Amino acid sequence: MDATPTYEMILVETPAEGVGLIRLNRPKALNALNGQITAEIFTAMEAFDRDPTIGAIVLTGSDKAFAAGADIKQMADTDAVTMMSGSDFTDWSRMSRIGKPIIAAVSGYALGGGCEIAMQCDLIIASETAQFGQPEITLGILPGAGGTQRLTRAVGKAIAMEMCLADRRLTAQEALQYGLVNRVVAVDAYLNEAIALAQKIASMSQIAVRLTKDAVNKADELSLTEGLQYEKKNFYLLFGTQDRQEGMSAFIEKRKANWQHK
Ligand code: CAA
Repeated sequence: MDATPTYEMILVETPAEGVGLIRLNRPKALNALNGQITAEIFTAMEAFDRDPTIGAIVLTGSDKAFAAGADIKQMADTDAVTMMSGSDFTDWSRMSRIGKPIIAAVSGYALGGGCEIAMQCDLIIASETAQFGQPEITLGILPGAGGTQRLTRAVGKAIAMEMCLADRRLTAQEALQYGLVNRVVAVDAYLNEAIALAQKIASMSQIAVRLTKDAVNKADELSLTEGLQYEKKNFYLLFGTQDRQEGMSAFIEKRKANWQHK
């Protein structure tokens, strides 16, 4: 059995049934993402992904800063070869292998890598003070964790170009208008809103949720024909599960489904 990991830069909780919560906890650096904190985030996500009692994950920071980007002080002393070596600092592919939905609860600064890690989540709940930006150009670099790709897909080329080339920041309301976030709520409510949404997702069949997330994410990568085929295979696969039988029986018998997650 795996030893329970210990964390120094994140806090890990289960605030509601079926919900795993990860809080970034580097307040003095506005939750800047260095190698250690990203490794801890991904390790905690993987642990929740393996935990059968957890149905959805929430990632949050503080009210002031979700995350102010990759750690500039750590990057200042690095070189191209180190960056290319696939360290925890640069290799965020571990997060794309998490099968359970991840909801970002974003307040304050979501800049650079902070905006990118939020966009790598499946849903984003923003507080009224959330600010999204890709200021890497001001450092003489460019977004290196998906900013040029996920942002462009989310908000379109015109806004993404302005954000990446001219350090345009989006307010929470603008992020909502451009489709980057799901909703904007008051600062004292955004985390509870995200936890409630996670709880709702956690009340579904985990196997159906996993295959649904997988299919929606494929829409960014495949042609429509390939995507429809992919969707159909996941759809057929669910017809082999006990939960599909249970969900349909529960509907017909007018009762709540009792999921087995099988
Ligand atoms: N890396 C390292 N430290 C950071 C940081 C970062 N990204 N952002 C903030 N900090 C640190 C500051 O250095 C400061 O530390 P000290 O007290 O030791 O000086 C502390 O956090 C508080 O920051 P400020 O005093 O600057 O706070 P502020 O309220 O005046 O400003 C801010 C807040 C506008 C977010 C400003 O801190 C800022 O501009 N941060 C950098 C944002 C940025 O450029 N992010 C992109 C990083 S590159 C990237 O992310 C690459 C990628 O694609 C993966």
